[in-house]
Amino acid sequence: MHGVGTSTRLVGLAGSLRKASYSRATLLALREHLPGAVKLEICDLRLPLYNEDEDGAASPHDVRLFRDTIGASDGVVIATPEYNHGIPGVLKNALDWASRPFGKSVLIDKPVLVISVSPAFTGGVRAQAQVNETLLSIPARIVAGPQVVIGGVAAKIKDGMLDQAFLGFTLQALERLVAISRPTSRAVQ
Ligand SMILES: Cc1cc2nc3c(=O)[nH]c(=O)nc-3n(C[C@H](O)[C@H](O)[C@H](O)COP(=O)(O)O)c2cc1C
Repeated sequence: MHGVGTSTRLVGLAGSLRKASYSRATLLALREHLPGAVKLEICDLRLPLYNEDEDGAASPHDVRLFRDTIGASDGVVIATPEYNHGIPGVLKNALDWASRPFGKSVLIDKPVLVISVSPAFTGGVRAQAQVNETLLSIPARIVAGPQVVIGGVAAKIKDGMLDQAFLGFTLQALERLVAISRPTSRAVQ
């Protein structure tokens, strides 16, 4: 007899490689406060720079792992800063890899929640708009509803994570993501 696993598997992408990154701190806080039966795996975005010559059947090992991780997930959470009014290259590069092969990307129809953060009051909102544009081109399925834009983030970090006191709005958005994510079906004996 077969049963069906019902846990929701999310993948987290931080648009910053900085050790003390506020974007990563936001994902870490979410991971600490997930609703029941939801898991969040934070991906390493240290991928090679996108090169179409290296894409295809023999694409780099880390890229294949990255694509497989997203493909096996039910949804994605992006937390990103804004660099010079736009998407940090690290995140854009990862999304470019994930966007291929054209028409067969693991991100097609994948529910994605986008969160932007900044020490500035503007909260990285311009980067968020650009991330949404990129996701629409694939097309991934952007979580609808109020945008999660975390301004003044530096003062909202506690013990290396976004303070729970400032997490409520973000958790509501995460619940919208979970609601539209397909629970991974896993047969069990
Ligand atoms: C190259 C660079 C460009 C930046 N440009 C912006 C910007 O346009 N808007 C903004 O709000 N913050 C900007 N910042 C400040 C970042 O928001 C800040 O460094 C933030 O902490 C980076 O995110 P992280 O904490 O996840 O590493 C910039 C930082 C860097 C390094």
